[in-house]
Amino acid sequence: MIKLRNGTLLGLLLALIGGSAWAEPSPESAPEPPVTIENIRARSGTDLSGQWHYIVDRSRLGIRKRGMQRNFAQDRPATNHPLLEYDWDTSPLMTVPGDWNSQVTEMAMYEGMVWFRRKVDATPQPGKRYVLHFEAANYDTRVFLNGELLGRHRGGFTPFEFEVTGKLLAGSNSLVVSVDAAHGLDTIPAEDFDWQNYGGITRPVRLVELPATFIRDYHVGLDSAGRIAFSAALDGPASAGAEVRFSLPELGRSWSATADAEGRVAGTIPLPRKAARWSPEAPRLYALTLAAGADSVTDRIGFRTIERRGNALFLNGQPLTLLGVSIHEEAIGTRPTRVLDEAAARALLTEAKALGSNFVRLAHYPHTETMVRLADEMGLLVWSEIPVYWDIAFDSEVTYAEASAMLRAMIARDMNRPSVVIWSVANETPINDARNRFLARLIAEARATDPSRLISAAMDKLPEAGGLDDGNLILVNDPLAEHLDVLAINRYDGWYGPLTPPEVAGVRWETRFDKPIILSEFGADALHGYRADPSVRWSEDYQAEIYRQYVAMTARIPNYAGMSPWILKDFRSPRRFHGRFQEYWNRKGLIDPEGRRKLAYDVLRDYYHDTRGLPVEGAE
Ligand code: GCU
Repeated sequence: MIKLRNGTLLGLLLALIGGSAWAEPSPESAPEPPVTIENIRARSGTDLSGQWHYIVDRSRLGIRKRGMQRNFAQDRPATNHPLLEYDWDTSPLMTVPGDWNSQVTEMAMYEGMVWFRRKVDATPQPGKRYVLHFEAANYDTRVFLNGELLGRHRGGFTPFEFEVTGKLLAGSNSLVVSVDAAHGLDTIPAEDFDWQNYGGITRPVRLVELPATFIRDYHVGLDSAGRIAFSAALDGPASAGAEVRFSLPELGRSWSATADAEGRVAGTIPLPRKAARWSPEAPRLYALTLAAGADSVTDRIGFRTIERRGNALFLNGQPLTLLGVSIHEEAIGTRPTRVLDEAAARALLTEAKALGSNFVRLAHYPHTETMVRLADEMGLLVWSEIPVYWDIAFDSEVTYAEASAMLRAMIARDMNRPSVVIWSVANETPINDARNRFLARLIAEARATDPSRLISAAMDKLPEAGGLDDGNLILVNDPLAEHLDVLAINRYDGWYGPLTPPEVAGVRWETRFDKPIILSEFGADALHGYRADPSVRWSEDYQAEIYRQYVAMTARIPNYAGMSPWILKDFRSPRRFHGRFQEYWNRKGLIDPEGRRKLAYDVLRDYYHDTRGLPVEGAE
């Protein structure tokens, strides 16, 4: 996706002299990547999961000083020099999708570059198109096919793809991928973040076969008037004037539209009377099929509306309180991985449901599509976020372009998911002019890209009041709130602040904004099994007391519209150093790494069950 520019001609010449025929594009020269093909999982193709060879390239020589000895992009460089300092066929293997941290003991904390290679057998058919699709790789990824650079992608949690029609050979192809997990001033997030930086090709890779003209993108959902709004975009020579047929067989409804000169259709139709709305209580999904020319794609969608009316939220026209929990994309287990297959994702969401949740905050980055589709199926409203986390290069146009690309990729991938109701553009960012401008722009872009959902950001800074120094007052007045639909506040009074849990009862809230407020984070670390007086930090009792205090505090929050406490499960973090209580785990989970519930789990479950009038199952 990165085209060569004059600036890189020199690079090309050097590479040719050095025996490796690809030039290193600069991020600045990267054109805006198109969003990926919609619902690519439903397209026919080859899953490239499995054992891939890998080379750990700590000094990034494969990029910086490749020459012929280390031109890893080449399966076997065209040289007859006697010394070749790599051999893919005898290099070690690891599982893809996967992270190297949980697979290779000595790479547990490695945050550098690793090269991967696998052979891909193909029989390209005339008139067909071929796309290599990556659901995610963390962080800075370059993809090579038979030694040719296809392109580069930056960002650890969004999909990217390359069309390889005409590049795919009949027979064996060499697919080489370099992944650099390093974070720094120019990445999103930047260097410092409170979760494990799992590196690698962390989500599935597929080689997809498509007709010459195919359905690249589509959206079918309810508009604010309760009508079905539909749109689709074709890609290929037969796009203009093509007929696009939509059908909802379970509702006995089908319709078609003729594509315009750009291969696009859009319109609305009435929602069939017998269609049930999607909600957490009744997550009704319907099969949808689109067909155009030789292409067709099937999906499962739901019909619901989400809106803010003044300082309250409404789902399908009914008042809504978001009762949820925050979740990191990390599997239950003492040696967790970033990779969440369906079983691992379902295990996490089942614990969230058992709490009585109707909502999950998927933090701090777009989670795997598996998680979001399960939320559709299980009936959990979703907050999805891009990792603009703490401080990043808010004054950089390149960083803005990357954040914008992440945002559009996140929205494009999950546009048809009824469970997703909130797009979040940031978490706990410092208040300053550059940040305010950056985020206001991003929020406007989110709203323009998807006017059907709510926009938010998690805030923890209290300007003017400077936190709780004037008598326990939380004044919600971050200037960012002006641009948001939902004001999400992270608070850790009783843990990071000076207050003890009982003193949290005295905390007051005020805001000048007539908008819904949710508690997007609160909590305390607790080591499972450590019991003590509720005043003793790290104990389950202390954490439970914090939860009791925050549940009570909700009565004092103006425009209170819900919460997503931090966090469902203890998670790996390189920032947690306490030898007895943490051991590189953030222990704010309601369940421990093995899934064992802590006391606070019951406190929250009882509050959610009471509030939603749910029967308590198997209360322990
Ligand atoms: C922050 C942050 C989280 C972090 C949490 C904590 O608010 O958003 O990413 O893990 O606090 O300190 O535990």
